[in-house]
Amino acid sequence: MNDLYQFPEGFLWGGATAANQIEGAWNEDGKGVSTLDMFTGGSIHQKRRITLEIDPSERYPTHEAIDFYHRYEEDIRLFAEMGFKMFRFSINWTRIFPNGDELEPNQKGLEFYDRIFAELKKYKIEPLVTIAHYEFPFHLSKTINGWASREMIQHYLRYSEVIMNRYKNDVKYWIPFNEINCITLAHKAYQAGGIISDETGNLIDLKKDNAQLRFQALHHQFIASALTVMKGKEINPGFQFGSMLTHFTFYPLTCNPEDIMLATREMQMKIYFCSDVLHRGYYPSYSKLFFQQEGVNLQQEPGDAEILRKGTVDFTTFSYYMSVCVSSDPNQEQTGGNLLGGVKNPYLQESEWKWQIDPIGLRYTLHTLYDRYQVPLMIAENGLGAVDTLDENGNINDDYRIDYLREHIKEMKQAIAEGVDLIGYTSWACIDSVSLGTGEMKKRYGFVYVDKHDDGTGSLKRIKKKSFDWYKEVIASNGENL
Ligand code: BG6
Repeated sequence: MNDLYQFPEGFLWGGATAANQIEGAWNEDGKGVSTLDMFTGGSIHQKRRITLEIDPSERYPTHEAIDFYHRYEEDIRLFAEMGFKMFRFSINWTRIFPNGDELEPNQKGLEFYDRIFAELKKYKIEPLVTIAHYEFPFHLSKTINGWASREMIQHYLRYSEVIMNRYKNDVKYWIPFNEINCITLAHKAYQAGGIISDETGNLIDLKKDNAQLRFQALHHQFIASALTVMKGKEINPGFQFGSMLTHFTFYPLTCNPEDIMLATREMQMKIYFCSDVLHRGYYPSYSKLFFQQEGVNLQQEPGDAEILRKGTVDFTTFSYYMSVCVSSDPNQEQTGGNLLGGVKNPYLQESEWKWQIDPIGLRYTLHTLYDRYQVPLMIAENGLGAVDTLDENGNINDDYRIDYLREHIKEMKQAIAEGVDLIGYTSWACIDSVSLGTGEMKKRYGFVYVDKHDDGTGSLKRIKKKSFDWYKEVIASNGENL
């Protein structure tokens, strides 16, 4: 076999999760309330909603999630059994600083992550740590309107410094913000910025947009990320920091030049805008006109430009689930998607949640990102959300998931042969967890099934799916046996 068609030795195979979607124990051991703890359950037909107080008639899926907080030993043992080389998870900010504005961290929160790192070390699993996976302190949303306020930077820095110091010998790879470009999307101000009020002080209407608030919040996140990179390199010069994008991958529906330009603009402002700032250290020229058209007037402080220039990241990560088309014809059929839908692609099939399945799109994405920044890449999320059912023998034969992953991994292998420096792959989510988009349990991604259901019932028992053994073999053969 041509040895270019091989995963490099030491390739970081693994799985990904986020604290809010797995931990549960939402108010245990001093943990404070995070923004996603105030997000109700939903479905493909019913959007999740924010409540300012806990509404006893509502369901809040993060509160128990899959109880990883108490079951992490069993879960990490299962990941080790699959042969994971890497485990991506987020530290829940509100376990460390419950309200976000305390000066001293919550020891019990730190002790929980001490145990996680010890467990990973036991199995020689490399951690990939997300510092914030949309889990912002709700108290800061109420008091300063989250990332809309510049004050958020100092709270984030206090938190990131504490964890970088404490885990300076345990972690090499850090991601300051999950999917930092999510906030470039209209209506994501709450989820991606912890913003709960509009300019008049009223509860934000999730259906109304406010580009000024979103992009101002994003500027604050850019500064927080850059300052964290600078501080991190002081704490341990070996630390590596990654950008993390939600990669939608837009195709022009046709070769009509109007469609080509539309796709180019979508890619620029919804994807590259953030990675350009994080990797290159300055605002790209194409953003000027966009800001003017959207009426965005960014407040920057003297010194910000230098901070962005000095705090650039080392590697690129992204989540990839699907691609969508864009068209200048407003009458084209639409489809759903991760955080954002688009025009349907006649060449692709879609999942039960209407996300279009496009393995070649992953190779295309790897090329475009590698060509642009020329730094190592990790796929931080990729997987299939589907309804899994137990057969009469209690087995879960998730061949559809195996097919999805196999086709994507084949494209990764080809991308590597074509010259892309891909160093890791953490499949989402390696264990069933709460869906971020809909708050459902029935949208399952894991290699491990969790007996937990949308009505809150279930024993929380873990069951290996067919994909568990399949992925174990993929890792053992370093991607040869697919
Ligand atoms: C990504 C998020 O956008 O997509 C994850 O980083 C999320 O948190 C994943 O779970 C899949 O989306 P969903 O809506 O199916 O959970």
